[in-house]
Amino acid sequence: MLTHDQKAAERLGNALFRYMQGQPADGLPGDADANQQALRRFRLIPRVLQGNEAMDTRITLLNQHWSAPLGVGAFAGDRLFHDEGLLPIARACKRLQLPLVISEETVTPLEQIGAAYSGCWLQLRAAGDVGRIKALIDRAAQAGIQQIVLTVLAPVHPVSGLQPGGFSVGDALKQRGWHTIGSSEPGVAALPAFPVWCWRQIDEVAAHCAAHHLPLWLKGILHEDDAAQAAQHGVSGIIASNIGLRQSARWATPAHRLGALQASARMPLLLDGGVRCGSDAVVARCLGASLALSVRPVISALVAGGENAVCDLLSGWIHEVAAISHWCGVSEMAALNGSFLCEERH
Ligand SMILES: Cc1cc2nc3c(=O)[nH]c(=O)nc-3n(C[C@H](O)[C@H](O)[C@H](O)COP(=O)(O)O)c2cc1C
Repeated sequence: MLTHDQKAAERLGNALFRYMQGQPADGLPGDADANQQALRRFRLIPRVLQGNEAMDTRITLLNQHWSAPLGVGAFAGDRLFHDEGLLPIARACKRLQLPLVISEETVTPLEQIGAAYSGCWLQLRAAGDVGRIKALIDRAAQAGIQQIVLTVLAPVHPVSGLQPGGFSVGDALKQRGWHTIGSSEPGVAALPAFPVWCWRQIDEVAAHCAAHHLPLWLKGILHEDDAAQAAQHGVSGIIASNIGLRQSARWATPAHRLGALQASARMPLLLDGGVRCGSDAVVARCLGASLALSVRPVISALVAGGENAVCDLLSGWIHEVAAISHWCGVSEMAALNGSFLCEERH
């Protein structure tokens, strides 16, 4: 039987599958995903004979309740992957009560996704005119979106030719005459690389989010000093991410930065990148992440089998979180911490 990845490779064709995989220009052919490897290097140390009576995978994060410490992260160009775009994933996340982050480069209208599932967050790119971002936040609030994510690492490409997998998603959408949530023209919004935003713009966006009672996450923080700054600028939480090593293969991995970030952030942290099974989410939780986001396996499931395949994949992971945590000897997610981990060094 073919795996989701094999089916996706067959259905998407070379160029789109390469974009999905996202080999960066400075990667080596056949490079394994360093995010995945970094998570895999952590092993769990189970506690036995703890006398627990039940296992509860539910978590509460910034007043929202989720069935497990798992969620689906943002990806651009949803309709390139499925006729219904992001909607099958939104329905699967609704069935399973997991958060879904919508990229501003999604083709399916925001209002349609918001109507399908109220557990969505909107991801925007921290570049260009702040007025554009504020207008999108107004629209998000209107559509029932619950939280805002600002991608602050590599929000635009400073030079051409560095698109993940050598594929221009903007051109592909433009050719089909499709426009995205963030753009009124076909394709994706063309944002300037310079001047780069600074914390002043974050203050402005955070105040705007606060006026709508929307928490603001910064995605792409890997340095503890940036995490400490975020705490002083109205940010609600940090997503430790190197954007899946899609623009460059050289960034540090979230799994290795979480400890340092946690020491200085004093706010909720999420881990994004390399999550490929339920036990990865358990390890992320032990490393200090409230929740772990996954993207590429979910896209492959979407391409291979739509809503049911996405639902099967994610519900399998939730069951795995329950089983592994239970075998670790805990009865709730809050009990998982660094004492359950050891790191293999090669
Ligand atoms: C096809 C594709 C498109 C993506 N588009 C976006 C995007 O629009 N905005 C963003 O912040 N991240 C984007 N990402 C990055 C993901 O949100 C995520 O950070 C990265 O893929 C790491 O997670 P993974 O290892 O589980 O795939 C994209 C990833 C993929 C695979």
